[in-house]
Amino acid sequence: METSTARKGLFISFEGSEGCGKSTQIRLLAEALGGRDPLLLREPGGTPAGEIIRHLLQHAPEGDALTPEAELLLFAASRAQLVREVIRPALQAGRVVICDRFLDSTTVYQGVARRIPPEETARINAFAVGDCLPDITFLLDLDRATALARLGGRSQSADRIERESEEFFAAVRRGYLDLAAREPQRIRVLDASLPAESIASEILAELQQAGHF
Ligand SMILES: Nc1ncnc2c1ncn2[C@@H]1O[C@H](COP(=O)(O)OP(=O)(O)OP(=O)(O)O)[C@@H](O)[C@H]1O
Ligand SMILES: [Mg+2]
Repeated sequence: METSTARKGLFISFEGSEGCGKSTQIRLLAEALGGRDPLLLREPGGTPAGEIIRHLLQHAPEGDALTPEAELLLFAASRAQLVREVIRPALQAGRVVICDRFLDSTTVYQGVARRIPPEETARINAFAVGDCLPDITFLLDLDRATALARLGGRSQSADRIERESEEFFAAVRRGYLDLAAREPQRIRVLDASLPAESIASEILAELQQAGHF
């Protein structure tokens, strides 16, 4: 039986499709929280084993033949390691942890877009993270055309998931919004088409309003 997190810190995750502004907002939030020395993590990865899984999932040619089930389990494996090796100890030490993607990405990408039954993704997500859920999740919602315009020439270096079809991205956006509607207490939806500074102010205001700062 695992010990529970017994957290003193604050766990924040950012979600949304490619190019919605996650990295930008995480940078701005980290700057705003400077004195609190937030721990910035990205998924998949963030541990030595997780970084190898990340490479397999995103860039290695061996990853091209992965089945949806294997893909789901590899994301979960990376996350299970990250939770126990990094996130729980940091939260127990009272740190602010900011994660670029977490379990909602699995719910949406593997669950909705890859059509793995939602009860299977929920079960595997729960096994991977245990009680280590984000205190608050910011979903940056953006239409595909704006995201593509922002990403510009990045298609040349597109990873495996970025090469997916437009229908895939439509399912991802819808999947995120459906999930946010089911978990409004944790997931805050932000209009990611606004200027980056406005979104950053809204995030700080939400965190203050939720009593986190
Ligand atoms: N609110 C915004 N308005 C206009 N441009 C933005 C905004 N936020 C981010 N950008 C720009 O859009 C591009 C993508 O942003 P960013 O890298 O933060 O997205 P991301 O969600 O981290 O993408 P990925 O999922 O690929 O990591 C960058 O060039 C960034 O400067
Ligand atoms: Mg990013």
